[in-house]
Amino acid sequence: MQAQIFPGLSLSALPPDTPPVRTEWRDQLRAHLLRLGPQTRLNRFLGASSDATVAGYAARAAPAVLIEARVGGQLCGMAELHVRPGPRPVGEIALSVEDVWQRQGIGAALFDRAVLEARRRGVGDIWIFYLRSNLAIRKISERAGFTRIEDADPAMASAHLGRPAAGEAEAAWNGAPPDSRD
Ligand SMILES: CC(C)(COP(=O)(O)OP(=O)(O)OC[C@H]1O[C@@H](n2cnc3c(N)ncnc32)[C@H](O)[C@@H]1OP(=O)(O)O)[C@@H](O)C(=O)NCCC(=O)NCCS
Repeated sequence: MQAQIFPGLSLSALPPDTPPVRTEWRDQLRAHLLRLGPQTRLNRFLGASSDATVAGYAARAAPAVLIEARVGGQLCGMAELHVRPGPRPVGEIALSVEDVWQRQGIGAALFDRAVLEARRRGVGDIWIFYLRSNLAIRKISERAGFTRIEDADPAMASAHLGRPAAGEAEAAWNGAPPDSRD
């Protein structure tokens, strides 16, 4: 059963490369990521990351779609859908919810919307990579139908939705956008 969605939550999807191209989203992404608490930041970036690393990520990230979660106009979470184009496009979702807004269904709502946006773009294979200790994203992704895949790194896990193929996680991301696993 999906977590209950926070009342007043609105989600909006921005395709950053669609004209007119705007850049404010980078400032919003940077500010959002810098507001994350230490544990949330650790889980978002799959390891310790300095403010400079986080800001650099926001400056270089090239998501196909950025989804904002707002309550009463206030930004409380963001999801990025990165897509490696090709005859068989591959997607990766990365998301975060600011600490005071967690455990209210916002993460699950963002994740489900990112999957929907991937499907709208014909993305058949969707991945998420996370620390094995991250129970929240494990729950969210498995409820969305993703299959968990053990990683060679004992600290890491990934989950996949789409056309499953054993041992394909690394191959699928070989040559993927370099910023997507920063
Ligand atoms: C993962 C994340 C987005 C979840 O956001 P959220 O808004 O708290 O998620 P939800 O409220 O939709 O919770 C979904 C489920 O996870 C559970 N959950 C949330 N935080 C949890 C935690 N710290 N520990 C255990 N379970 C947790 C919720 O209780 C809920 O389960 P339930 O329905 O059985 O109660 C948020 O924790 C976060 O930003 N984490 C850091 C970034 C990250 O891990 N991103 C994924 C890798 S890119």
